[in-house]
Amino acid sequence: MIEAEAVNYAYRRGEPVLNDISCKIEDGEFVALLGHNGSGKTTLSRLFMALVHPRSGCVRIDGDDIAKLEPADLADKVGYVFQNPDLQILEETVFDEVAYGPRCKKLLEGQVQKQVEQALATTGMTEFAQAYPRTLSFGQKRRLGVAVALALNPRILILDEITNGQDKLEKQKIMEYLQNINAQQNITIILITHDMDIARMYTQRSIVLNNGNKVFDGATQELYSGREDLQEWGLHLPVLARLSSEFQVQALSPAEFCRQITVKAGGTL
Ligand SMILES: Nc1ncnc2c1ncn2[C@@H]1O[C@H](COP(=O)(O)OP(=O)(O)O)[C@@H](O)[C@H]1O
Ligand SMILES: [Mg+2]
Repeated sequence: MIEAEAVNYAYRRGEPVLNDISCKIEDGEFVALLGHNGSGKTTLSRLFMALVHPRSGCVRIDGDDIAKLEPADLADKVGYVFQNPDLQILEETVFDEVAYGPRCKKLLEGQVQKQVEQALATTGMTEFAQAYPRTLSFGQKRRLGVAVALALNPRILILDEITNGQDKLEKQKIMEYLQNINAQQNITIILITHDMDIARMYTQRSIVLNNGNKVFDGATQELYSGREDLQEWGLHLPVLARLSSEFQVQALSPAEFCRQITVKAGGTL
């Protein structure tokens, strides 16, 4: 369980970036953290991994205040995948890159191997184990980032805009792996994104930040019910969701939309 209570934060000498944020994410949830650029999503997630600490208020993980901890203290609990996949690459092979964390923990090599193999399998990266990480495609680098985080067996995984710049198929692939990780290993997933399609298809709950304020915390579905404040928060519904809301149908694909509209019109379209 991860919890922020009345958290305020500002970068040095800067304006407030997070204002009085409270939220609680239970074990096993799959939550979208939404908001336009600069709304404070990355900053909030940095607080969750103890990279920075609140000016006031507190962050708790499994009920314990993390104010005195550093990211390394939380490595077993919170895994983090950064926005830029190239930033993390240090090693010569995919296997060694994923093994880096477990080796730092001085685990026996047999155990390292086991954890790495599992992380690679869970992210569909087994066939690339001996590849040079920099030769991977953008989408594969993203999955490598997830494998690196998973190799330490975290209970919570925070993913910062990892679907940006990927085509539809790559996005779908990584999201399906994440869905399995969440469902089969009960790992809590906090997905930072401003992609409303991804939020709608894969998450049950969304938290929306706007200019450092929490402006929504509830069922993701509710964001698609024609709320006018979405525009105000700088979020844009995909065309299909806008049309579905306008015509008051629930459709996840264009074909389903057409079918429902036809039914609504009494089969005459
Ligand atoms: N290292 C930093 N130093 C100063 N200001 C920062 C820094 N990182 C982010 N900010 C500012 O904090 C605000 C929130 O940024 P961020 O958390 O990165 O938002 P998001 O991830 O939602 O795009 C923005 O106004 C941004 O300019
Ligand atoms: Mg960000």
